[in-house]
Amino acid sequence: MSVSGGQSVAEFLSSRPLVTLTFAQSLDGKIAGKEGKQLILSGKESMLMTHWMRTKHDAILVGIGTALNDDPQLNSRHIPEDERPSHLPRPVILDANLRLRPDCKLLKNYRERKGRRPWVICDADLTSNDIGRKSTLEDAGARVIGVPSVDGFIMIPDLLKVLYNLGIKTLMVEGGATIIGSFLAEPARTEPNAIIDTLIITIAPTLVGNDGIGYGEKLSATQIPSLKHIRTEVMGQDVVIVSALE
Ligand SMILES: NC(=O)c1ccc[n+]([C@@H]2O[C@H](COP(=O)([O-])OP(=O)(O)OC[C@H]3O[C@@H](n4cnc5c(N)ncnc54)[C@H](OP(=O)(O)O)[C@@H]3O)[C@@H](O)[C@H]2O)c1
Repeated sequence: MSVSGGQSVAEFLSSRPLVTLTFAQSLDGKIAGKEGKQLILSGKESMLMTHWMRTKHDAILVGIGTALNDDPQLNSRHIPEDERPSHLPRPVILDANLRLRPDCKLLKNYRERKGRRPWVICDADLTSNDIGRKSTLEDAGARVIGVPSVDGFIMIPDLLKVLYNLGIKTLMVEGGATIIGSFLAEPARTEPNAIIDTLIITIAPTLVGNDGIGYGEKLSATQIPSLKHIRTEVMGQDVVIVSALE
């Protein structure tokens, strides 16, 4: 079976980063509030764990929905300064249509030398309208990288190979909802699972309700990857479950 570009699964596995998919959810499986309102679901202990994990990865990936909605910094600022490793992960934003705002915190932090240069992954086939937005983002500090897309969705296997060839050996994927769905659904097309190595979910003791945003609604039963439980930890009021994908 081939994954992308005619590669076998074995060849693909040796040419993509190790991938950790991680996010926080409520007891009723929501990762954001009504209309995507950002919710701080993690308590301070599990938030600290997330910031430590960031320092263990070469890059942190979020989708453009999260970048626009939350304006994240994707750094390790919750770790006390005297304990904070000097390594800063590379921010990567999946943004097929180059909708990222040039004044977002990720670009501002880079310009102020407080963060690494963000990589913006867009559709490899840019239209002439997109070229102007590309220049604007590059002027603001972004490195814009084209990767093939289908229906506006960047192809995850191609993305992983591009990142690996650019030196990213470990990738932490933090969301949001659509990105989580894409990474979880991908294994069904690349049997055996070839996309995610580790899934780390923080479960917070809170309910959000029907208005909230979940991530599993579009996963069909045949797409659900099989998980091998590795560890469960209680962190403050949260439960953190670590699984490997088989
Ligand atoms: N609880 C948590 O741990 C957590 C973590 C992160 C985010 N969030 C929440 O998640 C919400 C945002 O989720 P979201 O679904 O709106 O946005 P998202 O998943 O961050 O980004 C999705 C967008 O990324 C682009 N994209 C390009 N290639 C893609 C691919 N292969 N798969 C998926 N998307 C691709 C598409 O943009 P185009 O439409 O431009 O093509 C797509 O609409 C926010 O409310 C945020 O607060 C929660």
